[in-house]
Amino acid sequence: MGYSVRPMTADDIPQVSEIDREAFPTEWPPPSFKRELSSSMVRYLVAVDDSRRLTGKPAKPRRGAWESLLARVRHIMGRDNAQDDSVAGKETDFIVGYASIWMMTDESHLTSIAVRQSHRHQGIGEMLLLAVIKLSLQLKARVLTLEVRASNHSAQALYVKYGFKNVGIRRRYYTDNGEDAVIMTTDKLTSPAYQAALRDLEAKYLERHKAPASASG
Ligand SMILES: CC(C)(COP(=O)(O)OP(=O)(O)OC[C@H]1O[C@@H](n2cnc3c(N)ncnc32)[C@H](O)[C@@H]1OP(=O)(O)O)[C@@H](O)C(=O)NCCC(=O)NCCS
Repeated sequence: MGYSVRPMTADDIPQVSEIDREAFPTEWPPPSFKRELSSSMVRYLVAVDDSRRLTGKPAKPRRGAWESLLARVRHIMGRDNAQDDSVAGKETDFIVGYASIWMMTDESHLTSIAVRQSHRHQGIGEMLLLAVIKLSLQLKARVLTLEVRASNHSAQALYVKYGFKNVGIRRRYYTDNGEDAVIMTTDKLTSPAYQAALRDLEAKYLERHKAPASASG
């Protein structure tokens, strides 16, 4: 499998925004990736297709005041998926998914994970989760926690596979449709039992997908 995971950079923002809007079209407001990338509490990882490169769209012509205002509104509304000028003309990686964590004291909180719809069911979500767990261990997190929509059975299946357990419900947590969130958490990441399970899962993952997943960490 020709995919790998690396830390996200500012050049990845247009593609990550695109994936975010595709995966979470009703969530409001969209994340401010630029601000979050500069926070010491937040870490973003991206999954990259190693066999494909993109060339950034050419820089847009200079805008007049009216166009500028419209672009600003579109940006605030989260509808501006255009490449930003920083990647114009540059060769960039093709991003197929991303994941983010917030470090809060000794807890790592998985705030988002998403894979392009066209690239799902190929093990990319699992590769990202493995990388998130390793990163959380590097950052000395005791446990990994998250909230997931009660109806999101595919994501819950992925989390259960990696030892997350349901520990509670946040009623009407999602403001778009009033859906409950299931709170999930792992056991202590450094416990011998979790470490053994993780080694086993990673070995099975590599066997199934054959090529080494160069998950950061
Ligand atoms: C959840 C998501 C990241 C999974 O990514 P993916 O690359 O398709 O997942 P993988 O191919 O790596 O699958 C890994 C595991 O996830 C689970 N899974 C993934 N898709 C599933 C589905 N449609 N039904 C049931 N389980 C599923 C399975 O446990 C699977 O392991 P298995 O192959 O041994 O059964 C992806 O579906 C996605 O981007 N969804 C939209 C965004 C989202 O809901 N994110 C979670 C927010 S909390």
